[in-house]
Amino acid sequence: MDMRSFVRALPKAELHLHLEGALDPETMMRLARRNGVDIPFRSVEEIRAAYRFTELQDFLDIYYRGMDVLRTEEDFYDLATGYLERAAADGAVHVEVFFDPQGHTARGIPFAVAADGILAALADGRERLGVTSLLIMCVLRHLSEDDGFAAFREAGPYIADGRIAGLGLDSTERDNPPAKFERLFAAARGAGLRLVAHAGEEGPASYVAEAVDRLGVDRIDHGNRALEDPALVRRLAERGMTLTVCPLSNLRLCGVPDMRRHPLKRMLDAGLKATVNSDDPAYFGGYLLDNFVAVAEALELDGADLVALARNSIEGSFLDDAAKRAHLDRLAGAAAGRAEQVRP
Ligand code: HPA
Ligand code: ZN
Repeated sequence: MDMRSFVRALPKAELHLHLEGALDPETMMRLARRNGVDIPFRSVEEIRAAYRFTELQDFLDIYYRGMDVLRTEEDFYDLATGYLERAAADGAVHVEVFFDPQGHTARGIPFAVAADGILAALADGRERLGVTSLLIMCVLRHLSEDDGFAAFREAGPYIADGRIAGLGLDSTERDNPPAKFERLFAAARGAGLRLVAHAGEEGPASYVAEAVDRLGVDRIDHGNRALEDPALVRRLAERGMTLTVCPLSNLRLCGVPDMRRHPLKRMLDAGLKATVNSDDPAYFGGYLLDNFVAVAEALELDGADLVALARNSIEGSFLDDAAKRAHLDRLAGAAAGRAEQVRP
């Protein structure tokens, strides 16, 4: 059985996906025209040619510029719908998606325009595609904690009724340690939000420890550089901390020179609950299944590894126990008798 079909058939969750990072060049051009927004590109090819970043900040500069085409609720709806269709085609049964409200409110787009467009798409995706979802708002760590608090306050009604389920931390990691947001994360925990933070993507292993110890996160996004600290790795493994790893993104931004040197297998062997995710698929060259296949081929992962990655994604999700149990039973069924036959 070929690996791509095997992985597609495994029920799995995507836990690290920035919706604004799913804005592919075609959609960017279409929305720029639809909204009369001036972008510095004349064609899809020119947009693709601009994706030459090798550092997080270079990527973020293009990412923030790209999101300027998102103006109306319909734009956010279309963006999220396009992503959900891809995720469903890749065999995702559940997604927990990030959005960056400050990236929109700073441009004069109201919080509700972004949130309502996305939430409408998530609701339709549940009905039409059978993909369940949760929405996580991220705060931009290059901005102040007060700015993050302002976004958190705007989200109040959405948090109160569960439409926003979690708080995350993204953007420029270097010199913006997790502890900068300690009070905000404490307030978010008090409001019942689940907590995640990017750490150890470009920042040091100590930022991963800080996200766990000072922010009290439920998951670490990326976490690659935790491997530089063996004692921290043991602690993360003992806690069963989920890492949302993004192989194709890491190739561009995390200094992984070649997928054959990607740390995913080392993470699994160290007992870490690693998962596979796409991060910003429109920018990094692949959606969920592409990420699985790229890393599995390069590292010669076997069927058991692939099932473990899918299992980690369900267990590390913020679904309730009954939903997790149901997905895990289906996963066991999908893997039974087939995992041994997957060709690496
Ligand atoms: N890292 C940090 N911030 C981000 C990313 C990322 O990969 N994508 C979108 N915002
Ligand atoms: Zn990310």
